[in-house]
Amino acid sequence: MIVFRITFMLRCNEDATSARHQQSGNATMNNSATSSAAESSTRTMTLIDNATGRRWELPIIDGSLGPQVVDVRKFYADTGMFTYDPGFTSTASCDSAITFIDGDEGILLHRGYRIEDLAAKSDFMEVCYLLLHGELPNLKQKTKFEHDITYHTMLHEQMMYFYRGFRRDSHPMAIMVGVVGALSAFYHDSTDITDPYQRMVAQHRLIAKMPTIAAMAYKYSIGQPFVYPRNDLSYAENFLHMTFSVPAEEYKVRPVLARAMDRIFILHADHEQNASTSTVRIAGSSGANPFACIAAGIASLWGPAHGGANEAVLNMLQEIGHKDRIPEFIERAKDKNDPFRLMGFGHRVYKNYDPRAKVMQASCYEVLDELGIQDDPLLELAMELEKIALEDPYFVEKKLFPNVDFYSGIILKAMNFPTSMFTVLFALARTVGWVAQWTEMIEDPSHRISRPRQLYNGYAQREFVPIDKRS
Ligand code: CMC
Repeated sequence: MIVFRITFMLRCNEDATSARHQQSGNATMNNSATSSAAESSTRTMTLIDNATGRRWELPIIDGSLGPQVVDVRKFYADTGMFTYDPGFTSTASCDSAITFIDGDEGILLHRGYRIEDLAAKSDFMEVCYLLLHGELPNLKQKTKFEHDITYHTMLHEQMMYFYRGFRRDSHPMAIMVGVVGALSAFYHDSTDITDPYQRMVAQHRLIAKMPTIAAMAYKYSIGQPFVYPRNDLSYAENFLHMTFSVPAEEYKVRPVLARAMDRIFILHADHEQNASTSTVRIAGSSGANPFACIAAGIASLWGPAHGGANEAVLNMLQEIGHKDRIPEFIERAKDKNDPFRLMGFGHRVYKNYDPRAKVMQASCYEVLDELGIQDDPLLELAMELEKIALEDPYFVEKKLFPNVDFYSGIILKAMNFPTSMFTVLFALARTVGWVAQWTEMIEDPSHRISRPRQLYNGYAQREFVPIDKRS
């Protein structure tokens, strides 16, 4: 194959008065959220084909925070070439006003509010409202929102039979993908994406029904009867009730555990354009119905590099088993010929401590304390592993820090969730983020179907060979 290599020179043409490259340091200086197309600055970048001397001017666009972007939307039309960025390491796929991450500083903001503040001072219902509507609710708005969610928690009774099609030993994430996708077959009055009211009802249904669907997936796997939602309980309490109560006796939700559950939901609520959220946006860009789009997001989340990591962390800690074996596993993680990775470590965006991991670690102590679990060997192992990894030159150089999944499994295990349910809880909590991002995309008049291009490196056109002539 012949490879053409063209080298370019990129040069920034800077208008001194407008030049800026905002990072989190001045995060509070420009607080105007742009909901749709971000502002073009007067800066451009010149692209020069060094072989021919041809030049192209590329506009630079400012967001309200974070790196500027080079606008390459007309790049193909102007140059006849594509940009190449598998894995999207340098590509902004949309503009969004929902979540901001500064990975170098370890900052996560939802609609401008720090995740640490939301986890400490707010609750999941407020965070849902914030993500969907852009502002924290006042009391009246919050009460109405909670009411709307509470009164959508029941599932169509026919859906109970849907579960029976699954084997009892199915992974609950497999059940989630199927059942959430099947919502599209049950709620026809909220699938017209052009109707704002139907979009809102779909949002509410998804957020409300996800705990019911998740709890039922668990109940089904252990052969216990499904437990119906209760309207007198909070979102987190209701989920714990549906998961752990049985009809034979009264179940009292412990407030500390409900609070921990709520906090876990907050910490997972949204994380800008991660794999599953991008999947939801891409699925939705074709006009697919919202329930099917969220099912696509669940499928994407399931992988161990993404939401499946919380399950993988616990399995890894159990496999390590004892502090003495940590060095062996650290060496394996560093060995390029070994597929093993330290699960719960590293992140595409964070090159610093994931701020969610810090809150999760504190929550972990609180839960273990409440449950009277002292000297939990898994927690001790996790802390020792973290300490050794953070001092190891390999992890230091590559800026690999614990992420949100590193400690969540320990809390969830202490709360009696089986490891197979960990990613389900992530999906439950992330649903609001998916729904908010999907809505933002649908409501953006400039959105188009997502259709990436490729660098083709297969055969050129060739003649068909009949089967009797093939070697
Ligand atoms: N253990 C050992 N080495 C690692 C790890 C790890 N956990 N993570 C990254 N590296 C190395 C990797 O081998 C690569 O080395 P080199 O440059 O020599 O080839 C370098 O660090 C960069 O890694 P990458 O895979 O190119 O980075 P990425 O941005 O494509 O992947 C990641 C990010 C999260 C998939 C990856 O760090 C990983 O697999 N971590 C473990 C799984 C995990 O904990 N996932 C949960 C992410 S947080 C929850 C969520 O938001 O989904």
